[in-house]
Amino acid sequence: MEKGEPGRVLVLHGPNLNMLGLREPEIYGSTTLADIDASLHELGRELGLEVDTFQSNHEGALVDRIQAARERYGAILINAGAYTHTSVAILDALLSVSLPVVEVHLSNLYTREAFRHHSYIARVAVGQICGFGADSYLLGLRAAAGILNNGT
Ligand code: DQA
Repeated sequence: MEKGEPGRVLVLHGPNLNMLGLREPEIYGSTTLADIDASLHELGRELGLEVDTFQSNHEGALVDRIQAARERYGAILINAGAYTHTSVAILDALLSVSLPVVEVHLSNLYTREAFRHHSYIARVAVGQICGFGADSYLLGLRAAAGILNNGT
């Protein structure tokens, strides 16, 4: 295979997403990260995709996983958490692997504080899905499947 692995999607969760369920439930809901990962694996099976998930509170660990995704995955689905708004390092890592990227967020960034309105990830993403709670991830996985199957 020349580049990537079409049937495999790497899902990356950034800092504090391990606290879902406990963390500001009025914004992020009561679903835990384990629940989200389980639904992603289930939907992945339905869509014929192999899904790997990884969460880290550390920017460098996320950069390492992105670099290692080259040749191994067909697409990356990412909620970089607060690094969305700050991390040129994650943007550069995503640019370096040239895989299609789908950006997701549980909350609607644009109804929140101004500092959340800018996303470094959006520069490299095919598209962004935000505001649908845990469903943002499932919609994002469907979007990734569409990109892998039809290039759209
Ligand atoms: C978030 C939105 C970010 O602004 C915030 O820092 C997060 C979660 C979301 O999923 O809504 O950690 O990415």
